[in-house]
Amino acid sequence: MQRLTILITALTLSLPMMPAFADGTAAIKARQGMMQLYAFNLGILGNMAKGATEYDAKAASIAAANLLASASLDQSAMWPAGTDTFEMEGKTGAKPEMWSTYPAVLDNVNQLVAAATAMNAVAGTDLASLKGAMGTVGGSCGACHKLYRQKD
Ligand code: HEC
Repeated sequence: MQRLTILITALTLSLPMMPAFADGTAAIKARQGMMQLYAFNLGILGNMAKGATEYDAKAASIAAANLLASASLDQSAMWPAGTDTFEMEGKTGAKPEMWSTYPAVLDNVNQLVAAATAMNAVAGTDLASLKGAMGTVGGSCGACHKLYRQKD
């Protein structure tokens, strides 16, 4: 709940911060980099879940902790107004709906944090536990993308 409040406050304040980001490109790169971190660490877990790599409790714990850490970043400065697919076509996949329906997107952020927290609690236990937590994490990525990410 505290994270939610911080995010709302900071996103409301992101407009006056715009000059620091000139065209918003740096913010777009930062959030895309954050997404790449999600994908990299989820990929490690996913490969173990589907048997593409052998289960390794230590590596699974690290990937889950990294996923949770990256999902827990305060992203408020990474989504300044005017950095959507309408205003910056070709540079971003973030649909205008993310801003026009705000704060609905925070539900999706919180879903990912909850799923990553659950994964972090069990990833190092055994493969079955990791597998059990996988669907919710992947589902939280997909749910947000379905609403707010433009298909390539
Ligand atoms: C709160 C919404 C939300 C959640 C949750 C979310 N994403 Fe994203 N994702 C986006 C949006 C919006 C973009 C487009 C960002 C842009 O291009 O500015 C994106 C882009 C991406 C990209 C492309 C990044 C690039 O380099 O262009 C990857 C990869 C990605 N997401 C993976 C994930 C994974 C994996 C998860 C779950 C662990 C996840 N995302 C969770 C909204 C979300």
